[in-house]
Amino acid sequence: MENQQKVQNLIDLRTQAKLGGGEKRIASQHSKGKFTARERIHMLLDEGSFEEFDMFVTHRCNNFSLEKEKYLGDGVITGHGTVDGRTIFVYAQDFTVFGGSLSETMALKICKVMDMAMKMGCPVIGINDSGGARIQEGVTSLAGYAEIFQRNIMASGVIPQISAIFGPCAGGAVYSPALTDFILMTEQNSYMFVTGPKVVKSVTGEDISTEDLGGADVHASKSGVSHFRVEDEQTGIETIRELISYLPQNNLEEAPIEDGGDPISRLEDALNTIIPDNPNMPYDMKSVISGIVDCNKFLEIHKDYARNIIVGFARFNGVSTGIIANQPNFLAGVLDCNASRKAARFVRFCDAFNIPILTLVDVPGFLPGSSQEYAGIIIHGAKLMFAFGEATVPKVTVTIRKSYGGAHDVMSCKQLRGDFNYAWPTAEIAVMGAAGAIEVLEGRAISAIKDPEEKAKFVNDKVAEYKDKFANPYQAASYGYIDDVIEPRNTRFRVIRAFQALQTKKVVNPLKKHSNIPL
Ligand code: HXC
Repeated sequence: MENQQKVQNLIDLRTQAKLGGGEKRIASQHSKGKFTARERIHMLLDEGSFEEFDMFVTHRCNNFSLEKEKYLGDGVITGHGTVDGRTIFVYAQDFTVFGGSLSETMALKICKVMDMAMKMGCPVIGINDSGGARIQEGVTSLAGYAEIFQRNIMASGVIPQISAIFGPCAGGAVYSPALTDFILMTEQNSYMFVTGPKVVKSVTGEDISTEDLGGADVHASKSGVSHFRVEDEQTGIETIRELISYLPQNNLEEAPIEDGGDPISRLEDALNTIIPDNPNMPYDMKSVISGIVDCNKFLEIHKDYARNIIVGFARFNGVSTGIIANQPNFLAGVLDCNASRKAARFVRFCDAFNIPILTLVDVPGFLPGSSQEYAGIIIHGAKLMFAFGEATVPKVTVTIRKSYGGAHDVMSCKQLRGDFNYAWPTAEIAVMGAAGAIEVLEGRAISAIKDPEEKAKFVNDKVAEYKDKFANPYQAASYGYIDDVIEPRNTRFRVIRAFQALQTKKVVNPLKKHSNIPL
């Protein structure tokens, strides 16, 4: 072959590789409202930044006459590029080639980018759209999955790992995304389950649709498997880009500073009147969050799951910060099993990646009852306590209103190594609420009073006495458990000043193989 022809041959091979499983299958992909793997990567990365690996890899399987059907790239596009100028490694399964099913060689390609990401200390993003293990390959495909899983595990806490589900993700294949830090699903076309509707029907008799079994809605609101539910792929890609902007490249770096121009000392007057006089009335904690963070910008995670607690990223004076906040607007902000697990996972992510934590507290306690006890609220609550207590990143806590009982301790109190613990004057820090406390303390005296009016007066007086003593932040402040009582409208300034002072914080946990968080 002449040299010029060799060059032309390369160009032709590249053109062929870019067609994946062919034009017909690309058209079929588009007809389902889906982008191709290559289009997705180009949408995700900065324009012109994509560098591809392994375009000429093909499978090595001869079962079922598969040697007659080979596609350049073998069902996954891999490589690196930049998002806002920062390098990331990426892979996207190509559904047009054997339904994006995982072969031995596809696994090798994915493992290669994961190894590169680890070596370079960069995030890795996987775009999933696959029929699972390539059936013709048998056990080599299963081994390939396990190679990926092992790398997911080793990369955990070292580089951020993000999974987008833009199509099927079923069987054991679900476990790679599940091992990563964040999962994002599209409302149309994406689903995740360990066993599909047909197997469910044959084993349990249950008739259920793909959507109801493992669609984006189910995993965003019921199982909590998915952190983001997005309308379409375009929104999904934008969300991933935004998410990455809050994250460092790896566990030895810090997230990039992005100065939005919001003044540090901006007062948010509305916060002075946001707390209702009636302690049983709710308000929206998201208004508190958006009032204090830079440019009112907050990226909420797990938005539709365990809505009694809010978690997500924002910036203070340009510094990426994780926020955990009880939401009085939903179940009064109580801590239950799901809220505890959701928040614990988020706290651990922030701690692993050097992201400071702000905790906003308004919690009436743990949700009582047999269903919570049977579901293991003891262990799940302990997870959140463990996560806060183990975290060594800067931790600032602001108690907004209620902070009762065990939930007070859990929500990043002073003794769980909260660095700066502030309270609003509306804070109530006590063992329990006034009515419940008087019931316990004065039960016998109350039942001894026969006259209803006299009884009501007795109870009211006792409740008032209790509130006077405990329904405020000053008892905690008198012990130094609260560092200062702050004016609500000045919260942004005080929080930023606290994080500034904590910039040089250095705390190291005792040397150990690993902790034994109550799983
Ligand atoms: C090989 C596969 C495949 C697979 C799909 N294809 N899945 N090839 N192995 N697992 C091929 C099809 O033959 C077809 O080829 C093309 O991909 C598109 O598939 P369609 O069925 O036409 O597409 P669609 O109607 O959209 O249905 C998609 C699907 C379905 C729901 C994913 O293909 C499906 O049910 N596939 C099998 C899923 C499955 O059971 N996988 C194994 C799970 S167990 P042509 O040539 O027509 O384009 C598993 C274990 C992992 O994954 C364990 C890890 C530890």
